[in-house]
Amino acid sequence: MNKTLMLHNGVAMPVVGFGVFQTPPEETATAVKTALEAGYRHIDSASSYFNEQGVGEGIRRSGIDRSEIFIETKVWVSDYGYGETLHAFEKSAAKLGVDQIDLLILHQPMPQHFDKTREAYGALETMLADGRVRAIGVSNFMPHHLDALMETATVVPAVNQIELHPYFTQPAVREADSQRGIVTQAWSPIGGITFYPGFGKDRKSVLEDETVAAIAESHGKTPAQILIRWHIQEGRSAIPKSTNPSRIAENFDVFDFELSADEIAALDGLDTGRRLGPDPDERDPSQWGLEIPEA
Ligand code: A2P
Repeated sequence: MNKTLMLHNGVAMPVVGFGVFQTPPEETATAVKTALEAGYRHIDSASSYFNEQGVGEGIRRSGIDRSEIFIETKVWVSDYGYGETLHAFEKSAAKLGVDQIDLLILHQPMPQHFDKTREAYGALETMLADGRVRAIGVSNFMPHHLDALMETATVVPAVNQIELHPYFTQPAVREADSQRGIVTQAWSPIGGITFYPGFGKDRKSVLEDETVAAIAESHGKTPAQILIRWHIQEGRSAIPKSTNPSRIAENFDVFDFELSADEIAALDGLDTGRRLGPDPDERDPSQWGLEIPEA
């Protein structure tokens, strides 16, 4: 079973995608092929993950027709600007080995250089119009970034991919997305960012939460499956990452049970209001070779 979410432009996107953030390039093809064999039909990559080539190779090795697979990837900030972003598409498409990308999104806003963000988004609009991409979107946009983007954009983003798990549920962003008809997509949907170097080390993983464990036990499911199901039932897309074959399959085995309204409310109630990952407004542009303009 491969449930889909309808994007606002009529493109169907499989609700559970396979994430490859921090999947080593040499392991990516195998992981992607394993995921496709387990039933996933949506892969989420990014140029900044340096593993788009492995994604393309995994798709080809699976033998599954390209047209059955939804490929999502992201433009990194160093490629923001109109011409630069058109070129970024060419680079990603070549690495993936495809002519068309199903969903191309801006990896994050560049708050101190929002003009560059607008130009990059303008390039996405061009490529949507001429068919190089089937849908366009953004990532790590907060409501004020969406407002700023829509001052000049003509196409509403189809997707906003943000950090989202029960310890950080982002109600304001979800509300802003839903008001505009944007599908919210969860990164670190099972709170796995706590496992990544440099992130959330002072905090326990939501996979170890007692409330999640109790719900999991009552359904005969694992904590990860409960969390992914919670996203789906709340109308979101989720893109769990794993390189372990049994966990890859486990994370897709979420279509044979249902959480009750009380269980969903209990999971919503775990929100701490604290993100584990980086704040989109607090990134240092110097890391991208840019200076912050003087106020
Ligand atoms: P691994 O690749 O070894 O399975 P997220 O997608 O929320 O960021 O989570 C990804 C992290 O969670 C990775 O470290 C991944 O490790 C781990 N992970 C993925 N699936 C599961 C699962 N079903 N149970 C426990 N840990 C998981």
